Amino acid sequence: STSSEPYDVVVIGGGPGGYPAAIKAGQMGMRVACVEKRGRLGGTCLNVGCIPSKALLHSSHLYEEAAHGWGPHGISAENVKMDLNKLMAHKDKTVFGLTSGIEGLFKKYGVDYFIGSGEILSAGEVKSTPIDGGEPSILKTKNIVVATGSVPASLPNVPIDEKVIVSSTGALALKEVPKKLIVIGAGVIGLEMGSVWRRLGSEVTVVEFLDRITPGMDTEIATTLHRIFKKQKLQFKMSTKVLEASPKPGGGVVLKTEPVKGGEAETMEADIVLVSTGRVPYTEGLGLENIGVKVGARGMVETDEHWATNVPGIWAIGDAARGAMLAHKAEEEGIAVIEQIAGLGGHVNYGCIPNVIYTHPEVATVGKTEDELKAAGIAYKVGKFPFMANSRARANADTDGLVKFLADKETDKILGIHIIASNAGEMIAEGVLAMEYGASCEDIGRTCHAHPTMSEAFKEAAMATYDKPIHF
Ligand code: FAD
Ligand code: NAI
Repeated sequence: STSSEPYDVVVIGGGPGGYPAAIKAGQMGMRVACVEKRGRLGGTCLNVGCIPSKALLHSSHLYEEAAHGWGPHGISAENVKMDLNKLMAHKDKTVFGLTSGIEGLFKKYGVDYFIGSGEILSAGEVKSTPIDGGEPSILKTKNIVVATGSVPASLPNVPIDEKVIVSSTGALALKEVPKKLIVIGAGVIGLEMGSVWRRLGSEVTVVEFLDRITPGMDTEIATTLHRIFKKQKLQFKMSTKVLEASPKPGGGVVLKTEPVKGGEAETMEADIVLVSTGRVPYTEGLGLENIGVKVGARGMVETDEHWATNVPGIWAIGDAARGAMLAHKAEEEGIAVIEQIAGLGGHVNYGCIPNVIYTHPEVATVGKTEDELKAAGIAYKVGKFPFMANSRARANADTDGLVKFLADKETDKILGIHIIASNAGEMIAEGVLAMEYGASCEDIGRTCHAHPTMSEAFKEAAMATYDKPIHF
């Protein structure tokens, strides 16, 4: 079918970048359509990313606590059982509920939803080919927002079959708890999914190319985190290069590795191997090359600072464009690009995007790392406070971690905040807000925080940059 009246915006991709863009456009009274080929809205994040992983992280944490974690409180449970099918069913139900919710929001705000594969025919035309093989629709439009996301990066000689050699998608849906799990890559996915399966009973070894975990993270925080994970019996094989992985005829996988610095090759075996060595933008089959949209390294759509590509009327956001591959970053861009299209000057402050790893404890950061400040030659002060000295953490028997503030040496303005704590992901919001408002550490240190809360450690770490904390 061909509709004569053009859309104001057609969004390709219904993930955390695309669906908020479509909703925002609808809310602003634009004529808008969203083309999504998955059959469900919500993209990677809701279907095979953020949400299912957080369901499994929470369920597996509850299980581990019940089985081994209540000792300090004088509580023990016998015969703690875990039903993997039910645990997975909770995850699936959560995902289904949330993705259906977005369909409801599309109806509420007048977004036309096309279940199909989108291809850009020209700057003003998108073809949506239904995934069930029906007639394609040609959508005429004034603007096209590319929000097609990302897919797992592949590793040479490690063929992902989603059965024994899996990406995060397979790791979110294993049918049984593997006895042995090898994780390739000590980044966010490796640590989150490695933690899930270790808690559920797997022996987990993380193989990492570098000599540190979580590259890019503040080195002191990463080192502390590494120590905590080792204490939790997550095993690490650092500075190790994976040469190849192959499924064994009777089940399981053989992995060949060698030390990065050279030396004897080694063989490891496992029931399951998880490949988590990063993700790459997904722009295949979109037709970008047909109309001359500039696509950079690894398929990333090139844009200016307001998400405009080199072809007028074509925009790109989220994982398919530059910057951190995070759902909330994609969402901010989704809203801002629509404001931009509407001529309202949409803006995203990339210096204030929080980053959270949802292990236990959690790690949450915003702003600069100490390594970055050193490299840039910026004079800074450090303020730290350990949860060992926080009354609430002590009462909860949950004292792993610290808060670390980095502030400008002259002005005390906050430059970066790094937290390891069981609730770091929630706690960081205060820091992001403070940075958005250009706060100094003293602004936080002189703000009353309720007692007894973990957030008092946040305040006291801020006090430590310009004075002394009271409790340490
Ligand atoms: P996506 O979510 O990838 O959505 C793109 C959509 O476009 C997909 O549904 C795809 O089917 C569709 N599409 C692609 N091409 C076409 C086409 N030609 N036609 C029609 N449709 C198309 N981020 C966080 O912030 N917090 C987390 O806790 C977190 N956890 C994660 C856990 C895992 C295991 C993974 C893999 C990722 C996680 N992420 C997390 C990252 C987050 O999922 C992504 O940053 C986010 O989904 C990016 O949003 P997006 O809209 O750009 O792309
Ligand atoms: P990542 O970039 O976080 O980590 C990849 C790790 O693999 C790094 O430590 C890297 O040094 C290592 N590596 C790369 N090549 C290797 C090789 N050949 N052999 C051994 N190690 C190798 O990527 P990951 O974990 O796959 O996650 C992808 C992205 O998804 C993240 O960058 C993040 O943007 C997003 N994500 C976000 C989450 C969150 O916000 N909580 C959760 C999960 C994913």
